[in-house]
Amino acid sequence: MKKSKSENHLASSISADSCKDEFISSSPAETEDFAAKFAKKISPGTVIALFGELGSGKSVFARGFARGLGITEPVQSPTFVIVHEYRIRKKSVAVKFLFHLDLYRIENAESAFVFGMDEYLKPEAAITIIEWAERIEKQLPSGTIKIRLRHVTEKQRGILSVEL
Ligand SMILES: Nc1ncnc2c1ncn2[C@@H]1O[C@H](COP(=O)(O)OP(=O)(O)OP(=O)(O)O)[C@@H](O)[C@H]1O
Ligand SMILES: [Mg+2]
Repeated sequence: MKKSKSENHLASSISADSCKDEFISSSPAETEDFAAKFAKKISPGTVIALFGELGSGKSVFARGFARGLGITEPVQSPTFVIVHEYRIRKKSVAVKFLFHLDLYRIENAESAFVFGMDEYLKPEAAITIIEWAERIEKQLPSGTIKIRLRHVTEKQRGILSVEL
């Protein structure tokens, strides 16, 4: 498959020294578990940017991430409303909210900022997780953790993370 410009950009930033090894998940449950463990290490104020083509597992990852923060309500991708906000009630978790965005329907960075995107890019006591972060790649703040998901086989997905 031909790579888009933004994927090439991400691939080059990921090949830098800060790059961690790619994790190969063999099932949706494994992707969720990986994301749940990952979430426990993330401090409040962090933006998590998910990259990857349709069906690469961004929503599965986001669901696992939410579970890891103790969110028990159903987590579905907010494709039509753009953002879902979850309150985190677990006392042992420092993060108070999770903002889950899906920018698939946003054409470009400009329209993302019209709906108030900038507030979600400085989350303070919250964490923001963004599907289709390609749409606003240049606007992502420093300290953003980029996660690239990719198809390996029908049941396998590669997960790679890098800090901006
Ligand atoms: N190892 C795996 N990890 C995650 N998902 C997997 C895996 N193997 C198969 N799948 C399947 O791949 C699909 C991933 O769907 P998901 O909605 O998470 O993708 P997405 O990247 O959010 O796509 P979209 O861009 O449409 O939002 C699901 O149907 C899931 O069951
Ligand atoms: Mg999705």
